[in-house]
Amino acid sequence: MSAQLIDGNALSRQLRTELSQRVSALKVRGVTPGLAVILVGDDPASQVYVRNKVKACEDIGMHSVLERYAASYTEAALLQRIAALNQDPSIHGILVQLPLPPHIDAHKVIEAISPAKDVDGFHVASAGALMVGQPGFWPCTPHGCMKMLEHIGYDLRGKHATVIGRSNIVGKPMALMLLHKDATVTICHSRTANLKALTLQADVIVAAVGKRNVLTADMVKPGAVVIDVGMNRNEAGKLCGDVDFEGVKQVAGWITPVPGGVGPMTITMLLVNTVESAERVTG
Ligand code: GUN
Repeated sequence: MSAQLIDGNALSRQLRTELSQRVSALKVRGVTPGLAVILVGDDPASQVYVRNKVKACEDIGMHSVLERYAASYTEAALLQRIAALNQDPSIHGILVQLPLPPHIDAHKVIEAISPAKDVDGFHVASAGALMVGQPGFWPCTPHGCMKMLEHIGYDLRGKHATVIGRSNIVGKPMALMLLHKDATVTICHSRTANLKALTLQADVIVAAVGKRNVLTADMVKPGAVVIDVGMNRNEAGKLCGDVDFEGVKQVAGWITPVPGGVGPMTITMLLVNTVESAERVTG
């Protein structure tokens, strides 16, 4: 048996077409949704990510600005830039690409972004809103995973979901989103004893660790949905996820590929959040 693929590229295309219509409707009312992306330093992976984000904005008719600063840029200067963007009516979303250079306190920077423009969903106000089920921006990667489950018509009520990874960006918000849909959720991490026992009982597995082959075929219940958030490179330099794709696809019912799975969905949900932010302002 071979699992069905959940195609993140195809779903993204569909969602972005719908979004471009919302952008057009906003423009008729005199508002162009705007995203500011800030990159400090020259991390090569971050440069690719921010370029993709800005291009995705342009593709659906949004306004975007990419501000690039040298690694020596000071924390005070960055906080001042964010304060200005918080006040800028042409900007509805502010994204500071992580990681930041070590002399800049990322927590302080994220907290400086107005929660109304926190389209990454990283501010404590956004995290708190997600926790208690109040309106607010949801972090893009786990939100994209939820959209994929919704797309295949998967009903999470009463299902067992196991999340591997406990980061603030993916693992923890992912667990909360699954919980809001009435799944029974297990969060696993580097200190978890007997990971295999916890993945084998799962109907849905989300792997978000950043390490290759964290999930292998012997750890998956037949028919389970497997979502791979990982972005790693193998010895040959080829992009791969946290899941042993070739092995697991023989056992799972559904599986997301890497590349072409969660990655494009993350950017799509950033666009969703920014358009929503502009719609909130417009009323
Ligand atoms: N670095 C890696 N992923 C992300 C993300 O989703 N948002 C930001 N701001 N930085 C990142």
